[in-house]
Amino acid sequence: MTAEYQVRGTVAVITLNNPPVNGLGLATRTAAVKGIQQALADDAVKAIVITGAGKAFSGGADIKEFNSPKALAEPSLHTLIATAEGSTKPVVAAIHSVCMGGGLELSLGCHYRVAMPGAQIALPEVKLGLLPGAGGTQRLPRVLGLEMALNMIVSGTPVLSDKLANTALFDAVFAADADLVSSAVAFAETIADARPLPKARDRKVDYPNHEAFLQFSRNTVKAMSGPFPAPLECVETVAASVTMKFEDGMKFERERFLHLIQTTESKALRHAFFAERVASKVPDVPADTPVRAIKQAAVIGAGTMGGGIAMNFLNAGIPVVMLETKQEALDKGLATIRKNYENTMKKGKLTQEKFDQRMALVSGTLAYEDIGQADIVVEAVFEEMGVKEAVFRKLDEVMKPGAILASNTSTLDLNQIAGYTKRPQDVIGTHFFSPANVMKLLEIVRGAQTGKDVLATALALSKKLKKTGVVSGVCDGFIGNRMIEQYSRQAGFLLEEGALPEQVDQAVEKFGFAMGPFRMGDLAGNDIGWAIRKRRYVEKPEISYSRTADLLCEMGRYGQKTGAGWYDYKAGDRKAYPNEQVNAMIVQHSADIGVARRQISDQEIVERLVYSMVNEAAHILEEGIALRASDIDMVYLTGYGFPLFRGGPMFYADTVGLPNVLAAINKYAQGHQGGAWKPAPLLVKLAGEGKGFNS
Ligand code: NAI
Repeated sequence: MTAEYQVRGTVAVITLNNPPVNGLGLATRTAAVKGIQQALADDAVKAIVITGAGKAFSGGADIKEFNSPKALAEPSLHTLIATAEGSTKPVVAAIHSVCMGGGLELSLGCHYRVAMPGAQIALPEVKLGLLPGAGGTQRLPRVLGLEMALNMIVSGTPVLSDKLANTALFDAVFAADADLVSSAVAFAETIADARPLPKARDRKVDYPNHEAFLQFSRNTVKAMSGPFPAPLECVETVAASVTMKFEDGMKFERERFLHLIQTTESKALRHAFFAERVASKVPDVPADTPVRAIKQAAVIGAGTMGGGIAMNFLNAGIPVVMLETKQEALDKGLATIRKNYENTMKKGKLTQEKFDQRMALVSGTLAYEDIGQADIVVEAVFEEMGVKEAVFRKLDEVMKPGAILASNTSTLDLNQIAGYTKRPQDVIGTHFFSPANVMKLLEIVRGAQTGKDVLATALALSKKLKKTGVVSGVCDGFIGNRMIEQYSRQAGFLLEEGALPEQVDQAVEKFGFAMGPFRMGDLAGNDIGWAIRKRRYVEKPEISYSRTADLLCEMGRYGQKTGAGWYDYKAGDRKAYPNEQVNAMIVQHSADIGVARRQISDQEIVERLVYSMVNEAAHILEEGIALRASDIDMVYLTGYGFPLFRGGPMFYADTVGLPNVLAAINKYAQGHQGGAWKPAPLLVKLAGEGKGFNS
């Protein structure tokens, strides 16, 4: 059943019923249109109420039907709205909980709207790079006024129904304890005979000097929307509600909607929207896999990561015990957590009460006995296998049966770590990103023996911690860092060949990355990469690296923490100032290795950095380390600042076209350090078949 029909006295009640949010899919639209027709055919019925079952009036389009022919099939949303608006008997929308997108557009086509307080009212299409395409841009300004409607449509942000109680959007907002359907039926009885039927389309948007306001809006919205075209298109279509006749405005809205739906930016946003939803699905771990209860957590190591990880649990109301080897380190870690929360409080983003609650949930210890009862323990100690071994052997001794033993390692072999315990099924990787209390990404590393319920629990936990959980298999660097290594290598080779740090950073930042590789290195600390490379020179001598970054570290320039890295930094200023000695060192190094420096284009810089990651990602996909291409995109969108409007590296490669990506890779394979380029078999195969990673 997708919409129920019932007659109460002289009023027909149509209840949309398509869980979870009564999305207006084809079956629901068909049933609603039928309901209206049935009511019109019944002489005993004088008025019609449309409402929603369960947790929403309607959340709008049915996301299950996105990109499917069903989305546009008749009766379309336009037809449903036209049927309601054209009804010769009054139609009342009875709104509660959630009324968004197409749901709000449907209610705007009804003659009357009544609501419960606390209902979320929104036209969020802009968040998917679109605009409301079923009359929302023309009808909402007519009932809410130009300014408020424009703000809602451009931002997509929900507004509570009680805040809109005194506007023409609502004919009544009932008391919180009222019964919505009975109240709506009673309301419908009072207006059953009133004619003419009021229609939003017949109203005029009244705004003195609207041109000045619209011009101001265009300027501000343009400045704020970066590469995304939708917000400005929203302004233009809302403007049409003032400057055009209703029918012309509707045509204009349609035209702009069809334009936006074809833009790469909108496709990228919709891709990210679905990628995030699908990331939590693991084919061999069904949705009904039981999860373990997480009521108490422990974190080992109160350093940079441990503190941030603990804050995630505290924010979710889960008590945390932090364990350290020395009182001093423990005190420092706890003080940092306190300081972070105090800063948030100073910014007005945390109340004293919440601060007190969170700080009351955290405690510290030096004794393993104190953490044995935790449901999950996350290890964040030094990145050395010996240290991890000691910790996991100890955890195996003290943790209660069924506790989840998680490691935050970023490079070490999780299977080896699990092997230090007698319960490898309970061991999993939870790879947080720095700063762990801020970054959205959580790479969930599935070991060879990790239990399905443990994986399901980690995925559920990532949601509870408001993270985007992405599952990775075990390999060096997992998904994210394994790809970034190729990117960093290319950045180094570009310096050898003729580029300077600022050119590389600027090219990448123009492409849309939040920060180029060298500014990023300075922020994270160049010594970290140095330590990793030193290990690789021994373990994997076959991998070539530029030595430029080592020479930089030998100059003592570790980055922002030493006030100097690839760039110079001034106290109290995060700006990066190019340094002549560093640039001279780079030029000298080229001479030392016998490379004649050349002018390198920004296009080459971006291609080499991005395609090197894409190529590595193709290996990752082929090896089954990542479950799907869109998971890789999620890793890069939420953990590495890949530009959202490009949809992630795999989506981007698809938009460029894999044959073009492959041709570029083959070209670079002929150049300096060409041995670093070996086209991944999956890339070659898909390019040959004319397919994309996401197809
Ligand atoms: P850190 O050096 O800031 O903190 C490590 C802490 O662990 C120190 O406070 C130390 O006293 C404590 N510790 C060392 N051995 C211990 C033991 N046996 N028992 C209890 N505590 C012990 O290191 P950081 O950066 O927090 O890294 C921790 C882990 O997180 C490493 O595995 C690292 O690879 C990983 N990681 C680091 C990221 C970063 O950006 N820093 C990002 C993602 C993962």
